[in-house]
Amino acid sequence: ARTVGRDADGVVTVGGVDVKTLAEEFGTPGYFLDENDFRARCRAWREAFGADADVFYAGKAFLCRAVVRWLNEEGLNLDVCSAGELATALGAGMPAERIALHGNNKSEAEIRRAVEAGVGRIVLDSFQEIVRVAHIAERLGKRQRVQIRVTVGVEAHTHEFIATAHEDQKFGIPLAGGLAAEAVRRALKLDGLELIGVHSHIGSQIFDTSGFEVAAHRVVGLLKEIRDEHGIELPEIDLGGGLGIAYTSEDDPSEPHQIAKALRDIVHRECEAAGLEVPRLSVEPGRAIAGPTTFTLYEVGTVKELPALRTYVSVDGGMSDNIRTALYDAEYSVALVSRISTAEPMLSRVVGKHCESGDIVVRDAFLPADLAPGDLIAVPATGAYCRSMASNYNHALRPPVVAVKDGQAREIVRRETEEDLLRLDVG
Ligand code: LLP
Repeated sequence: ARTVGRDADGVVTVGGVDVKTLAEEFGTPGYFLDENDFRARCRAWREAFGADADVFYAGKAFLCRAVVRWLNEEGLNLDVCSAGELATALGAGMPAERIALHGNNKSEAEIRRAVEAGVGRIVLDSFQEIVRVAHIAERLGKRQRVQIRVTVGVEAHTHEFIATAHEDQKFGIPLAGGLAAEAVRRALKLDGLELIGVHSHIGSQIFDTSGFEVAAHRVVGLLKEIRDEHGIELPEIDLGGGLGIAYTSEDDPSEPHQIAKALRDIVHRECEAAGLEVPRLSVEPGRAIAGPTTFTLYEVGTVKELPALRTYVSVDGGMSDNIRTALYDAEYSVALVSRISTAEPMLSRVVGKHCESGDIVVRDAFLPADLAPGDLIAVPATGAYCRSMASNYNHALRPPVVAVKDGQAREIVRRETEEDLLRLDVG
């Protein structure tokens, strides 16, 4: 479904529109999203998991009203983790029962809003929150469907900041020491809660399915404990998101159908062994849907050759539109997209225009030696955790997100203006 190619002049096109036209019309830097690819990825996940499972797109990867509408049309559910994401989801017409609310420190106001709206589930993250949600639901005369998020003690092989299943961290309630079992006991006693299942999210940008399999094994183990102690079988499990994508040619991610098969197989096997009904499965991919659909287009401003070191290529954005390189040492690739060059490749570092030396977009890249101011370069796979983590550092204006489809391009998030920035200053 990817519609990226080059036209007869060597100019890269997406969705049938070339990047020079896009740059002229929408400016740089900008995020250009291939809408057909986004929708195809949604469908691939839905089809891979089938009718007896639910796919919750993780809105934190990238969310705006257009995305909510696409998800709705493609039959996906939505995971939100703040009042802002919830408001976007509801405002763009996602039915509340298809929304899940996450977070390790949801405010009373966020919980109230979610319960009032009638969200399909709230994922409980602590002992205090179990009571908090129950009280709010009771006060509103409701019974809220909830899952309990557990940490299964898996060391996912990913960056420390995005690994979430080892026990020494802020998310979830550890299975170890019987803590998760105790959380279940407490939740079952509260009238305001309908405990529907157990949730596990082991981390992000993971390539290997074995961590998910261990998580599934342990989550089913908890369901069995619950059955043995309380005589009830919880009807749902959620195994979170985290499937990695290819940022460079060295990354080799699994496909949705592979991860779906691995998860279903293990859940079926474990449930059969434990004599449990197979629960309804759900997953929460964010990056794997949004990430590959988008590239960031930059204009080259300055090319500085440091003899015997490398060439610094400065672009018109940087850490304000992609913090991932600075924050996680993330790797990206980059290509000249506004023309074909036959010049020698030179070792380059693509840097932004911000006032710090850590403002790196692509640490090591080979770009043609004749690269010049005015050239357009593109960094692929920036659809997840780039616009959603963008900042106004140095009073940068956050770039637009432009959806391209069948020869048409339109902003789905417009570029910020100086008025937008100044509007918040008081006095
Ligand atoms: N479900 C839960 C409960 C999560 O916390 C997350 C991500 C997801 C699903 C979606 O994970 P994904 O499929 O996108 O990997 N800012 C970091 C990633 C943080 C992920 C946080 N939670 C980055 O740029 O790599």
